[in-house]
Amino acid sequence: MQQKMKPKGRRAKLGKSIKYLGSKSAVLPSIMKAVEHVPHETVLDLFAGSGRVAHAFHCLGSKVVANDYLVAAATVTQGLLSPQPEARYYEEMAKASPVPMNHWWCDAAEGYITRENAAAIGGMRLYVDTVPPEARAALLGTLMVALGRVDACVGQYAAHLHGDSVPARTKMDVRTLIEPLQHAPDMPAGKVACSEAQALVDSLPDDFHVDLVYLDPPYTPTVNYPRYYHLLDTLVLFDAPVTRGKTKKRPNTHEKSPWISSKAHAVEEALIKLMVGLQGHTSHVLLSFSDESTLSKDRLVQILLEHGGSVIAHEHRHPAHVGKRADLRKRPYVAEYLFHVRMRGRSLAT
Ligand SMILES: C[S@@+](CC[C@H](N)C(=O)[O-])C[C@H]1O[C@@H](n2cnc3c(N)ncnc32)[C@H](O)[C@@H]1O
Repeated sequence: MQQKMKPKGRRAKLGKSIKYLGSKSAVLPSIMKAVEHVPHETVLDLFAGSGRVAHAFHCLGSKVVANDYLVAAATVTQGLLSPQPEARYYEEMAKASPVPMNHWWCDAAEGYITRENAAAIGGMRLYVDTVPPEARAALLGTLMVALGRVDACVGQYAAHLHGDSVPARTKMDVRTLIEPLQHAPDMPAGKVACSEAQALVDSLPDDFHVDLVYLDPPYTPTVNYPRYYHLLDTLVLFDAPVTRGKTKKRPNTHEKSPWISSKAHAVEEALIKLMVGLQGHTSHVLLSFSDESTLSKDRLVQILLEHGGSVIAHEHRHPAHVGKRADLRKRPYVAEYLFHVRMRGRSLAT
């Protein structure tokens, strides 16, 4: 495929997205620089998370397919990759009647947002069920972003804060924060799947091919996304789950992710399997990883050389951002790796 020429002056406008651990917002410029000379008319983002990277490619005119096994992540990504719904849907959503304060959703959200905001969000969530399907993900994405602006967390819902300790700044009326996501004008909607990544790759038809696959799997063994973002999943599914414990977690219906493991050999195995599965389906793989992982940079390069092709490694250091003083003393910097793999054809040995 010919290398894509970017229209002069056209840049990805980022706009808002959800607060998300592992979001690549901060390193987007490095990601885009690394693929400056790589054709990317078609892109597959297998671990889309906040949707930031998929959205950046979409805004540059690439045809994007994205995936995440977390329903909230897949939904916000679909919202970002959809055309902007009519303005009246946002206006109507912001005016929706709140649900009663004793609604199950207000209980599920207790401790994370005020009851007033929970009731308002519940009402807006019910309104979303009345809009046409093509507007749904964008409105849900908007609602998730708004929830993130009034919650009492730093981007994850694993810690419980008691109802009456919700800080004052989170008491602003969530309805005043409803605004559209940044949509790419004139682009048809990208497709988003909600599957376990390896299962999706294993189910690709033989003739499926994209120019570039972006991989950003979890690399911190302790960050379990379904557990951290249960409240967003509940907002999307709105299925009145029987919740557990103080944190009000959902019953975990996700398959165990092979990437969320403290055992280096398990993560290694997952990476090898994925690279082998991608052979023949793409010419380029871009892999984000970090030195917080159990796999060393040298081992990562070795695996990519063996099961992918030639490798260019980029490294980007930034101050550790963990909010824990002890960790900051131990390691003031985190290194983010970005590996560009130019894939060989399908290998006979595999
Ligand atoms: C590091 S985050 C991706 C961040 C994303 N690139 C961004 O900029 O926001 C990793 C993502 O992988 C997803 N994930 C974890 N295990 C998965 C699996 N086995 N299959 C599909 N998605 C998975 C998580 O839900 C999470 O959203």
